[in-house]
Amino acid sequence: MNEVLNNIYTRRSIRRFREQAVPKDLLDEIVRAGTYAPTGKNLQLFRFFVTQSAHTIENLRAVMADALKNPAYNFYGAKTLVMVTVPKDAVNGIADASCAMENMMLAAHALGLGSCWINQLKYCGDEPEVASFLTGLGVPADHHCVGILAVGYAAEEGTLHPRKENLVTYLD
Ligand SMILES: Cc1cc2nc3c(=O)[nH]c(=O)nc-3n(C[C@H](O)[C@H](O)[C@H](O)COP(=O)(O)O)c2cc1C
Repeated sequence: MNEVLNNIYTRRSIRRFREQAVPKDLLDEIVRAGTYAPTGKNLQLFRFFVTQSAHTIENLRAVMADALKNPAYNFYGAKTLVMVTVPKDAVNGIADASCAMENMMLAAHALGLGSCWINQLKYCGDEPEVASFLTGLGVPADHHCVGILAVGYAAEEGTLHPRKENLVTYLD
């Protein structure tokens, strides 16, 4: 089968990661693939905030856990996170960032890594403590985070979800 298609069909969300760190060159490649996503009018308004700092990841987890009132909240133990942000008023912001997220998920898979989209900043990113933490990281105040990608070496296979029926209609 064509390699690109095979990569699409075999990618799975991974929610358990090994301790082994993601090498910097692979991480760079994943993020680069994100930046190569298509964007409406080629505006490239998205920004990528990448961290492998245990301190930063724990502080983000903690501030989000507080805001979500869920002390157990976590990123599945991933030691690498990529946040994709876009201006809140960007007409195609969510679409652009979503294309970037998918590019990165497929790139990670192609490079032998697992990943999972983490969504909860969408719900708590405007809470004052979370917003100020993000600003402190350098996220522009007028941006929101569309998704966090947790990346790491998979410690599970992930689940194949069969496609629902009737997803596709061919029109005459
Ligand atoms: C917009 C979006 C938000 C998601 N948010 C989360 C999330 O917060 N936590 C999580 O574990 N998975 C999240 N996922 C992953 C989905 O649960 C996953 O893609 C779906 O169950 C299908 O599994 P697959 O990716 O292995 O095909 C998200 C996926 C998308 C596209």
